[in-house]
Amino acid sequence: MTENKQSHENKIREVEIALEEERSISKARNALLEANIKELDDIYIVLDEKLRSLRNKDERIKGFEAQLVRANKLSSLGELAGSIAHEIKNPLISIQGFAKRIEKTNDPDKIANYARLIDREAGRITNVLAKLLDFSRMDEPKRERVDIGEIIDDTVLFMEHHLTRFKNVAVSVEKNKKSVNVEVDKIHVQQVLVNLINNAAQAMPRGGTVRIRSGIKDSSGYIAIADEGEGIDPEIMDNIFEPFFTTKPKGEGTGLGLSLSKKLVEANSGRIEVSTKKGEGSVFTLSFPLVN
Ligand SMILES: Nc1ncnc2c1ncn2[C@@H]1O[C@H](COP(=O)(O)OP(=O)(O)OP(=O)(O)O)[C@@H](O)[C@H]1O
Ligand SMILES: [Mg+2]
Repeated sequence: MTENKQSHENKIREVEIALEEERSISKARNALLEANIKELDDIYIVLDEKLRSLRNKDERIKGFEAQLVRANKLSSLGELAGSIAHEIKNPLISIQGFAKRIEKTNDPDKIANYARLIDREAGRITNVLAKLLDFSRMDEPKRERVDIGEIIDDTVLFMEHHLTRFKNVAVSVEKNKKSVNVEVDKIHVQQVLVNLINNAAQAMPRGGTVRIRSGIKDSSGYIAIADEGEGIDPEIMDNIFEPFFTTKPKGEGTGLGLSLSKKLVEANSGRIEVSTKKGEGSVFTLSFPLVN
């Protein structure tokens, strides 16, 4: 009986020891778990800080990009300034002429006619200024239904004078007969056209024609700008849309024209494509979804 009791007590002790071991193991596990949780907490804090600093950097990069877009717009605007002065000067000279003629005559019919002409010329200046203000608008993209042909006309009107600085470079425009309506920020597309027309003119140092065509293809409205330059080397084709990529001499090109153009086109749900042939020239094509 005593032996039995003894073995019974032994069993109880064994169970107690096992329990004790189990307890200390689980204590150790808890301690380890706590340490792990603490470590994860620390990692989380570090990651959170890293994420915050990345977000900060991202914001700053976005800020830089916005500055670049603005700088490019300003430089396009500067290039247009000469043409704008020209556009304003001509009607002003006419207005002065008509005013002088009014001074010299007493004929009421003639005076009425000169006054009408003055009004017409002043209207031309108002138009040019409205377009200039449009172009210098720096705020958020403003997409509206617009005829691609109208964008081309406005851009060419402003650029004609600027392009005279390129020797023997002519511009020809061949628009779709019917209007081609798309929904874009007109000023964005104008800015892209200024960049593409400039590139086309710069690609023809010995002169040639920049051909601008517009039309409809695959339910998109397109504008194609073609030059008769040397074409683009296949080796650099993958690079031309990269920011700061330029083959032009220092001080002549920033290498931002195409990268910004691509950004602006894509912000307006459009695409920009290029095809080129060595010795024959390049064609840059913008396309935007048609709207009714
Ligand atoms: N029509 C073209 N014909 C030949 N090469 C071109 C043409 N358009 C662009 N390129 C090439 O692509 C490069 C990048 O063009 P991008 O307009 O981005 O910059 P850039 O013209 O060099 O400088 P920026 O536009 O700032 O004056 C040019 O340096 C040129 O090598
Ligand atoms: Mg350029």
